[in-house]
Amino acid sequence: CPKGTPISPGRSIIKKLPEHCRIFFLLNINKGERNMEKKKLCLIGCGNIGGYHLGHFMQYGDLIEMVGFCDLVHKRAEEFAKKAGQGRTYWDFREMYDKEQPDMVFICLPPTVHGEIEKETIKRGIHFFVEKPVALHMEIAKEIRDLAAQRRLITASGFQCRYSNLVEPNRTFIRENEVPYICCNRFGGIPSAEWWSDKAKSGGQLVEQTVHQCDLLRYFCGEVDSVCSMGGRGFVRGEVGYDTDDLSVTIVRFKNGTMATIGTGCYVKNGNAFDSKITFSARDKRADLRILSTLDIYGEQPFAATEQSGFVVSGDGGVAAAGDGKVRYTQEGDAGLICDRTFIEAVISGDQSMIRSSYADAVKTLAFVLACNLSMELGGAPVRPDAL
Ligand SMILES: NC(=O)c1ccc[n+]([C@@H]2O[C@H](COP(=O)([O-])OP(=O)(O)OC[C@H]3O[C@@H](n4cnc5c(N)ncnc54)[C@H](O)[C@@H]3O)[C@@H](O)[C@H]2O)c1
Repeated sequence: CPKGTPISPGRSIIKKLPEHCRIFFLLNINKGERNMEKKKLCLIGCGNIGGYHLGHFMQYGDLIEMVGFCDLVHKRAEEFAKKAGQGRTYWDFREMYDKEQPDMVFICLPPTVHGEIEKETIKRGIHFFVEKPVALHMEIAKEIRDLAAQRRLITASGFQCRYSNLVEPNRTFIRENEVPYICCNRFGGIPSAEWWSDKAKSGGQLVEQTVHQCDLLRYFCGEVDSVCSMGGRGFVRGEVGYDTDDLSVTIVRFKNGTMATIGTGCYVKNGNAFDSKITFSARDKRADLRILSTLDIYGEQPFAATEQSGFVVSGDGGVAAAGDGKVRYTQEGDAGLICDRTFIEAVISGDQSMIRSSYADAVKTLAFVLACNLSMELGGAPVRPDAL
């Protein structure tokens, strides 16, 4: 800029910046340089993930005013308003919409509570962010997707892992190396949400949690052709009200020919039980992604004799060491902060293209995981997400 010119680049310029500069700009430089009316934001569902988003909103005082918090348990909404230091509280979202006339809403509700709230939101022309999974039934999700498109609303979903700084080097690895096979695993314990342990209410672990891994696989490899899944029970004991799979194993064929296996379980008591990660296997390299933690690429650097990072079975049946130097990328900051900020910025600019996971895209990830559930019901028979 010529000397003395205020720095206020247009949004088209911001979009052309390299990703790390754009994010830095969005989070820092333009704070306080805006001279515009703040957008009105509401939140429905003041539970666990609602609190995560609230922590982000409190850093966006330059952009938004938190005008309303809604929860059936009114005390939770009151606690949110107290923490935010602003906003009125409601148990009825319609009353909140009538009184507050918000520009945007974050919908952070249990997986079964989707449908009427989104339809009313769309009817009123309110831009919306919905937590994953966006529904448990394709009919509801498709109807909401189509209604939102008709109204040209800005939409987003809670796939914050797409905004991790590990994603771009991982995508580059896949662009530059043909990846025939992916091994994806997520193992952990049972979350505390009261609805989680009932598959009818949560959709099961694959739909509620491992959907993050499935979404990233789609983001990296494109659409899924078909899946075969089997679930297992009987390993989790003594949990009151528990009625869901303890683990499941899925085979995935992507339309580009890549194949994957996805193993996921909630029977685990501590970290010694499994090293949850996604391995992308190319011919002479591999990438190990530990989501929101590290990305290790093996085979990029010259062989380091002291390191042995893996084994392959050689042609004669013997076992050969495939040790190699690795390049490590480490998670920086909170990807969710960028995810939420990107949605808010998109509402302000009217530019949906900044958002990495729109509602419509999240519906495709939903079809992926619901196809796995249907395959489980069919005893492992192949199911095409496109058919759902
Ligand atoms: N993106 C992520 O990484 C992430 C992490 C955790 C949870 N989630 C998702 O977020 C959603 C919510 O999960 P959670 O752990 O916050 O659940 P939660 O049970 O902690 O919170 C949900 C809240 O919604 C309220 N509620 C339910 N029905 C309502 C209604 N009709 N009107 C107003 N309030 C209502 C409940 O009282 C509760 O306070 C789930 O879909 C979950 O999968 C996403």
